[in-house]
Amino acid sequence: MKIIKTISEIREALTMERLSGKTIGFVPTMGYFHEGHLALIREARRMCDVVVISIFINPIQFGPSEDYNSYPRDFKRDSRLAKREGVDYIFSPSVEEMYPSPYLTYVNVEKITKKLCGAQRPGHFKGVATVVTKLFNVIEPDQAFFGEKDAQQFLVIKKMASDLSLAIEIFGVPTVREKDGLAMSSRNIYLNSEERKAATVLFHSLSLARTLIDAGERDVVRIKEKMLNIIRSEPLVDLEYLSICDVGTLEEVFLISGKVLIVLAARVGKARLIDNIFISQEN
Ligand code: PAJ
Repeated sequence: MKIIKTISEIREALTMERLSGKTIGFVPTMGYFHEGHLALIREARRMCDVVVISIFINPIQFGPSEDYNSYPRDFKRDSRLAKREGVDYIFSPSVEEMYPSPYLTYVNVEKITKKLCGAQRPGHFKGVATVVTKLFNVIEPDQAFFGEKDAQQFLVIKKMASDLSLAIEIFGVPTVREKDGLAMSSRNIYLNSEERKAATVLFHSLSLARTLIDAGERDVVRIKEKMLNIIRSEPLVDLEYLSICDVGTLEEVFLISGKVLIVLAARVGKARLIDNIFISQEN
């Protein structure tokens, strides 16, 4: 496994791989690995000849009052885990390498980035779309892997790749959860034990929605009401939004039909947590 920090060096190495006819799979990350990241890496390993991951805490996707400076990092552990999973290259550029000053060019996906997390975190998805585009241009992967855990991010990247005619297949990997259902996240370390327990109501509410839909419920108002009862039973959980929306437009729907996303964000102590489930309902 090679650890590479500059754009010119990773380009050179991957040109050689491509010339020998190998396909390249890419997993962008901000590091501090958990089983969710490893699931993406395993999927890339299974599907592609060469696996490249990036570890880069992208400053431009954090708001001014967000956790950029305190975002957890442990490069040694991450590279050990990556090696164990059979990663071929870690690309871990500096901020200056990615954003030479003055940096002036951004990629913006419209409309769907203004909803859900985009409404709470202005500029966040512009930062994500910009860094992912840059990483795509540097790595030029055949396939790239994203977690469904960050459902809006996944849908934004898919839309961006399709709108910009990128020759990269975007794959979604199902959310990896703790035993009690909490979606794995690098930010779960911000939770104390009481908050950690409280946070499970998020997954319970999503599971209840799935059970109701499986039993034939199609009315979004009724589903949301029952989800809210669960979430509000836990005073340590401060819900930011709960949405049942169309996977293409992220507009709210009123009846469950076709492909919908049930998605929520909540503050629990110092952590901002997100979770979701995709529903595919042929009535
Ligand atoms: P990061 O939060 O490190 O996540 C990297 C990838 O891991 C993302 O595609 C994310 O959706 C996926 N992931 C996180 N938790 C997961 C879980 N519990 N199950 C499955 N997949 C999970 O997302 C980012 O970094 C950044 O925004 C990035 C795309 C790297 C751009 O900076």
